[in-house]
Amino acid sequence: MNITILGPGAIGSLWAHKLANAGHNVSLWGRDSSETLRLQLDDTSPQTFANRDPNSLVDCDLLLVTLKAWQVLPALESLKSQINQDTILVLMHNGMGTAQPVCDHFASNPVVIATTTHGAFKPNKYQVQHTGQGMTQLGGMNKAGQQCHFLQAVLDHALPEVRWNDNIQAVLWNKLAVNCAINPLTAIEQCQNGELARPPFQAIIEPIVLEIVKVMQAEGIATDFQTLLATVNQVISHTATNFSSMRQDVYHQRKTEIDFINGYLISVAKQHHLATPENSKLYQAIKQIEQGWITS
Ligand code: NAP
Ligand code: PAF
Repeated sequence: MNITILGPGAIGSLWAHKLANAGHNVSLWGRDSSETLRLQLDDTSPQTFANRDPNSLVDCDLLLVTLKAWQVLPALESLKSQINQDTILVLMHNGMGTAQPVCDHFASNPVVIATTTHGAFKPNKYQVQHTGQGMTQLGGMNKAGQQCHFLQAVLDHALPEVRWNDNIQAVLWNKLAVNCAINPLTAIEQCQNGELARPPFQAIIEPIVLEIVKVMQAEGIATDFQTLLATVNQVISHTATNFSSMRQDVYHQRKTEIDFINGYLISVAKQHHLATPENSKLYQAIKQIEQGWITS
């Protein structure tokens, strides 16, 4: 397939290598204006990819969007006139809230959403490290996207394990719950995920999870408090030594994905007239941290 990676950062560069190794014709679309980008994955041989080649958008079968959530809409809108109406758009990022506007703006394109637990780190422009084996789940967001099951085999061949899930909304909501509970707290405390297993943090996490359960149930997603709390604590334990993505963003004074994590939860809760005081506190705390960089 002709595949273009929009946003060749850590996750995008990992997929670029894996898809190229699987035999696909892979191009990048990064912010860098150079015509080619040379990238090395771990200790494999560096590979050279075309970058920002307009033909790579026109001829693209699959546009894999690996931007941060807040970068997705502005980037896709700026490229809209160059994106073919048949190109499959796969959105792969943490958080929720981009998929519906993308479906609205790209009404003819198949839109697929992906969530991954692989870990990737890009220490510099030329290198990417695959820091943790994980799993990727895919599902269709619109009618045309729901007919793209074949992508499971394509992506699984490149970087297993990939699963197609007809109920991708449930998968996304469970991931959102994990991110709502772990990301802002670890960012505020500047701690590893494992710290959150300690009783003082558990006392904060429980009401956060309770609010999320109510919103998920109002959205028709089957869950209950004990199950969701167990899911969150399982991730805390499995990723105990990780620094969450939001902790890293705050540490490096980069804009976080809070609007698409707790921010998204709060906006959906409002539609159902549900109160989310605990998630709102976390949201405000992260916004205040971000504001501090702008004014300092
Ligand atoms: P990242 O390294 O920041 O990658 C985003 C890339 O997009 C950067 O190279 C950025 O360039 C580029 N970009 C920004 N705006 C652009 C535009 N308008 N056009 C083209 N390129 C643009 O982030 P990441 O760690 O790969 O994460 C991507 C998403 O995956 C996030 O939602 C993250 O939460 C999720 N995720 C990440 C991991 C992981 O291990 N890294 C794991 C699971 C999920 P600049 O750097 O120049 O801005
Ligand atoms: O955003 C992250 O860091 C990850 O999604 C997770 C699961 C919280 C692990 O650090």
